[in-house]
Amino acid sequence: MKKRKAQILPVRLYGDKTLRLKAKEVTEFDENLRNFVADLTATMYAKDGVGLAAPQVGISLRIFVVDPDWFKEGGKKNPHVFINPKFKEFVGSATNEEGCLSLPGIFEKVTRAEKIIVEAFNEHGKKFSVEADGLFGRAIQHEYDHLDGILFIDKIAKLRKIFIKKFLKEIESTTDENGVNIGKMSEDEEISRIDK
Ligand code: CO
Repeated sequence: MKKRKAQILPVRLYGDKTLRLKAKEVTEFDENLRNFVADLTATMYAKDGVGLAAPQVGISLRIFVVDPDWFKEGGKKNPHVFINPKFKEFVGSATNEEGCLSLPGIFEKVTRAEKIIVEAFNEHGKKFSVEADGLFGRAIQHEYDHLDGILFIDKIAKLRKIFIKKFLKEIESTTDENGVNIGKMSEDEEISRIDK
C-alpha cells in the first residue's frame, strides 16, 4: 500500500471567520483524525511555524500542534500534538514577543503565564500531561487561544493595537464573501504536497 502523503493546507489569515469560532471537542480518534494531524503538522513545518491550530486551516476542532525546538541549530522535528487540551495550572507571568501565521508580519509583546500544566490527548487517544515554560509554554497558550477564537492581538496594549490597525486592515482585505481568508496566492502555496 502506498503511504499517504501529508498535504500542506492553506493557512487562514486574520479576517477569516473560522479564526473567531469556539472550536468543538474531538470525539473520534480515527484514521481521519490522524491524517488531519499529519497535514496540520506538515503545514506548520512548511510555514516555519512553532505551532499551528486546526482553526488556522479552517477546521473548527480542538487540536493544535507545537514544536518549539525544531528550527534551532541542530534541532530535530519533534511535534507535540494536543487534542481537547485542558489547563490544570498557571504559574507566574512572563512577557515576550509573539507572532502568528494568521497575522503575517505582526509581532507584539504578550503577557502570559510563565509556566503551565496542561492535559490533552494525542492523535491515538492517549491522555498525557505536560509541564511547560519558556517558548514551549508560551506556544501552547497561544495555540490554545486559537481554539477559543482568540488571537494574540486581542491581548496587546490598546495603543499598540491602534498602531497596527492599518496592517490588520491590509491582511483582512483579502477575505472573500464567504468569510474565508487564505490571502493572495504566494509561491509556497503552489507547493500543495510534500513528502513527510
Ligand atoms: Co497563532
